[in-house]
Amino acid sequence: MISEDFIIELKNRCDIGYIVAQYVNLKNAGKNKICKCPFHSDKTPSMVVYENTQSFYCFGCGVGGDVITFIKNIEHLEYAEAVEFLAKKVGLKVYEDTIDRKNSIMRKKILEINKVVAKFYFSNLSSVDSEKVREYLNKRKISPQYIKKFGLGFAKDSWDDIINLLYSKGYSKEEILEADLAVKGKNNSFYNMFRNRLIFPIIDLKGNVIAFGGRILSTEGFGPKYLNSSDTLVFKKSNNVYALNFAKNTKKNYIILVEGYMDVISLYQAGFDNVVAALGTSLTHQQAKLISTYTGQVMLSYDSDEAGEKAANRAMNILNEVGVSVKILDIKDAKDPDEYIKKFGKEKFHVLVKNSKHVLDFQLDSLKRKYDIVQASDKINFLKDIVNLLSHVSNPLEREVYISKISQELDINKDIIALQIKKKIKKQISEKRIKQSKALNQILTYNKNNYAGSRVKYIIAEEKIITILIKNPDFYNIVSSKLTGEDFEDTYNQEIFKVIMQRLKDGLQVDITSLSNVINETLVKKVAYLLASDLNINFNENNFLEYINVLKKRQSNDVTNLDKMNNDEFKNYFKQIKDSKFK
Ligand code: CTP
Ligand code: MN
Repeated sequence: MISEDFIIELKNRCDIGYIVAQYVNLKNAGKNKICKCPFHSDKTPSMVVYENTQSFYCFGCGVGGDVITFIKNIEHLEYAEAVEFLAKKVGLKVYEDTIDRKNSIMRKKILEINKVVAKFYFSNLSSVDSEKVREYLNKRKISPQYIKKFGLGFAKDSWDDIINLLYSKGYSKEEILEADLAVKGKNNSFYNMFRNRLIFPIIDLKGNVIAFGGRILSTEGFGPKYLNSSDTLVFKKSNNVYALNFAKNTKKNYIILVEGYMDVISLYQAGFDNVVAALGTSLTHQQAKLISTYTGQVMLSYDSDEAGEKAANRAMNILNEVGVSVKILDIKDAKDPDEYIKKFGKEKFHVLVKNSKHVLDFQLDSLKRKYDIVQASDKINFLKDIVNLLSHVSNPLEREVYISKISQELDINKDIIALQIKKKIKKQISEKRIKQSKALNQILTYNKNNYAGSRVKYIIAEEKIITILIKNPDFYNIVSSKLTGEDFEDTYNQEIFKVIMQRLKDGLQVDITSLSNVINETLVKKVAYLLASDLNINFNENNFLEYINVLKKRQSNDVTNLDKMNNDEFKNYFKQIKDSKFK
């Protein structure tokens, strides 16, 4: 944790509008400022920056918080790093407590160590006893220019050269282990993590070497084909994307996502400057999110085997979830992009990219392969799948085109297919509405199922009390004798309330920036949401007392059974409560 005084000082110097404007085009909108949200692909401005509460909130994707949260997200930093980043901007020196300082010293050490080791691995490529790795690189047709660009290297078949190198530079055993460059064996032994492997350094967006991947040179090699650094203080596999440090600078409006390190390098060599890979894991939500901050369109070029197809399907969904549109490259007669280029040349790959298919065509083709449509039963199931698929297509023109296509191919009346799709869409819309109201509930933590006894009213009261307290810390005395955390039923609300009360008791501030230092990110987001929702409402003491009374009178029964309501009833009920005298 960073000292309270420091956060206050920092907050005073870092106006949120000023900081955010350095990243986006902020426009005035009344008392507030708005912009397109940099955290999702935003067509119209949905992010609002509130100068008076020094917070921001995006009504499109729900991201929100204070100036530190903003920097954390946009610079991909940890909390303490974001504070440091801002502090640097305004010329303040950060005070951290000892644990944090220890971690940040260790982080710096690991980065130094990685740099030293990466250089060493690279220099090994030209040493006399490394003929076999040169042969290997030759065989894989990686040119010196790209070996250099990607900083490839060679870990010799040695148990301790890295360890000795690092010892000679003054690093300790503990530091080498923290960097995951050595492994502890039996009987206190301690040996190199990477031995006899081609090395791919993993580089972050700031150009730091944060980890390594190592490939065996032949199938007779020892251990798995690839060995990768485990997570360390500077590396989280699930949060990083290989080669994004290059691809982020592309002028193209899409990024090519492949599976392997080798595919990435091959494609750069073939003239692309926009290729990345997930690090051997199936694409994670965080990785997709990270990619989506740089592009709205991804071309998936996964391996052509079954595993690759499965992984591509998963990646497709995850990318769609974060608002990235996906095209698919159809790699035929080669196992992966690297092999494709070797076999057919880079020009052919450029053609592949040009002919890349929208996900829909790809899925249609794979459905066609699944069924034998000469058989009636297969034909029916095929149609069902098609209807399902097309019902997810939001553009009616696009739908129309595909309906015509299918109707011709299957020799089935167009209108029948269209009708089925319409029905399906109708059903989906109603399902979507339910989902939306659920999503709304969730952000407010109003999960319908959790409120069998109608708790909505209480939750709203809880939230209002929090909002009012943040805006009017002097109301502390009113509430302190009347409510305790236990009167709050929502666990988030309870936690926020308790923190606020404790801080007010201790004479500390409770604005969002001060709170963000002591509560977790979910809670910060919630506070940002609450402040954004009630921005222009000035609550008075009577309003406050009213909400307190709602919680006090909790026992008196309100037994509306939300579970029994249908969607419309629930919505009405919900609206009614929101618009009631409590607002
Ligand atoms: N991978 C891994 N561990 C393994 C196998 C694979 O971490 N045991 C990751 C690596 O990041 C690798 C990616 O998954 O780059 C794709 O695997 P694969 O297709 O097997 O490797 P390629 O990079 O294509 O290597 P090559 O062309 O040499 O087979
Ligand atoms: Mn591969």
